[in-house]
Amino acid sequence: MHDVLVLGGGVAGLSAAVRAARTGCSVVVVTKDVLGASATQYAQGGVAAVLEGDVDSPDLHLADTIMAGAGLCDTAAVHVLVHEGPDRIRELVALGAHFDRVGDDDAYALTREGGHSVARILHAGGDATGAEVERALVAGVRATAAELRERWFALDVLVEGGRAVGVLVEDDDGTRQEIRAHHTIIATGGAGQCFAVTTNPTLSTGDGTAMALRAGVAVADVEFMQFHPTALHHPSMPRPLLSEALRGEGAVLRDEHGVAFMADEHPLADLAPRDIVARAIARRLVERNLEHLWLDATAIPGFATRFPTITKAVGSIGLDPSKDWLPCAPAAHYVSGGVCTDLDGATTLPGLWACGEAANSGVHGANRLASNSLLDGLVFGSRIVEAIERGKAAPDATGVLGDLLAGDAAVPEPLGHPANSGPPLDGTGSTSRDALQQVMTRYAGVLRDAESLRGALKGLLAIRPGSEEDRNLRDVSLALVRAALAREESRGTHTRIDFPDTSPAFLGRFFFTGSSDPVFAPLHEVAPTR
Ligand code: SIN
Repeated sequence: MHDVLVLGGGVAGLSAAVRAARTGCSVVVVTKDVLGASATQYAQGGVAAVLEGDVDSPDLHLADTIMAGAGLCDTAAVHVLVHEGPDRIRELVALGAHFDRVGDDDAYALTREGGHSVARILHAGGDATGAEVERALVAGVRATAAELRERWFALDVLVEGGRAVGVLVEDDDGTRQEIRAHHTIIATGGAGQCFAVTTNPTLSTGDGTAMALRAGVAVADVEFMQFHPTALHHPSMPRPLLSEALRGEGAVLRDEHGVAFMADEHPLADLAPRDIVARAIARRLVERNLEHLWLDATAIPGFATRFPTITKAVGSIGLDPSKDWLPCAPAAHYVSGGVCTDLDGATTLPGLWACGEAANSGVHGANRLASNSLLDGLVFGSRIVEAIERGKAAPDATGVLGDLLAGDAAVPEPLGHPANSGPPLDGTGSTSRDALQQVMTRYAGVLRDAESLRGALKGLLAIRPGSEEDRNLRDVSLALVRAALAREESRGTHTRIDFPDTSPAFLGRFFFTGSSDPVFAPLHEVAPTR
C-alpha cells in the first residue's frame, strides 16, 4: 500500500508528487504516456503571478480572475491562488525552472494576455513556458524516490468502506491490476479531445473526470469548456496555438476584409477576456460562412526571438509572421470545471483528491483567466500534500464543495463500483472517437442552442466506444451536454444563442453526483459579475 498515488504527469500531478516524496511519503506516479508527454508542455503564454513590482498586486490579479470567471469563481479559492502562487513559483525556480528576464536589473520579463489589467505573466523560452515547467518538474520527480509507472492507464477508482483505496489500472503489458494507496490524487488534465478542433494533445481524454463521474464523486461546471480564440487554422491535431501573448504584445484580430473588430466588442478590444473574443470570432465565422479570421502580428518587433515556438509552427506551413497575417479560429482548449474539491483539493470521496485541469476548486468559474492554469496546478497540487500531512480526513464546505455541502443538492454516496453513464464498450468502435468529436464540434461548440444540444445528446448516445479512452470522452461529453442543456442562459464560455443573456436564476453550479442528470445548487457566496 502506497501512501500517495498520483494519476497524471503534468504540472499539477508532478507538483504534488515532488512535494509528497520530499516529505518521506511513499509515492507512485502513474502516467498513461511517458513522463514529460503531458498537456502542460504545450502551454505557451506563461504563468500569471505577482512576484514583484508596485503597479500590480495579488488583489488586482484576484479581481481580474473573478471578472473573467463571469460570476462563478469562488473568491476564497482565487484568494488562495493569487496569494500562494508567487511562493510556488519561487519554489519552481529553486527546482531549476528558468523564466525569461530582461533589463539591467534582470527583472522577470512580463507579458499581458486577455482579461489581465496589467502585464503580469512570466514566460520561459519566449513562448515555451509549459515545456520549461514540465522539464523542471520531471527532473524534480526523477530526483526523488517516487516510483514511476509510465504507459500505465488508470481505469477506475477502487472504493472500499466509503473511501478511495487506489485505482484499477491497465499496465504497460495490457494486464489489469490494482494499485492501492491511502491517498489517490486525480491530476489527469483536460478533455479537449471531446472536440475535433482542439489545442489539446491526443491524451487529453477527460480520464479523471470520467472516473469520478462513474464513481459518483461530485463533478461540476463541465459545460464551461473554454475555446481558445486563436488556434492556427490548419488541419493538425492538436492545433498549434497562437498565444494570447501575441495580442498582449500588439497583434490585432482582423476579419476577412482586414477590419480590426474587437474594439466594437469590448473596452479591452483584443485583450478582452477569452470567452468574449472566442464568441466574437465564432459569430463572424457562422454569419459570414467563413472557416477562419486573421491574426495580424506583423507589428511585433523581433517576433522570431520572442515567439520561437509559434515561428516554427507557422513557418512549417510557409507563413512568416513578420509579413503574413495568420489564419485563426477558436479551438477547444480548457475545461474550467471538473472534479469538485474544497480548498485543499479534497473531493466528496475521502481518500480521493483532485488538482489541475481535472479539478474544480472554484478558481476558474465560468471562464478561466489566461495563464492561471499552470499556477492552479502548482498551488493546489501542493495544498493537497499539505492537507494529507495535516491528517485531513474528509472534505469541508469550502471552494466549489461549499456550494454543494452548504446547499440543498444531494451529497453523493460513494458507489462501491463504477457505474456506467452510457452504453458499454463493444470493442468495435475504431472510428468512434472521430464520430464523437464531429458530434461535439457540430452541436456543442462555441455557439449552442437547445436543438443543437439535443442533437449532440442523441449522437453521443448512439456511439459505442471502442476503447477506455473513448469511453471517458463519451462520459465527459454526455455530462457537458446535459449541463449545457440545463443551463438556459449564456455565461462565460457557455453561449446559448437561444438564451443570449446571463440570468441570475443560474448563478450556481450544475453538479453530477452519481446520476446522469445534473443537480443545480446556487452559490453559497456571490462573487461580483461583469
Ligand atoms: C496562450 O498562450 O494563449 C494560452 C495560455 C493559457 O491557456 O492560459
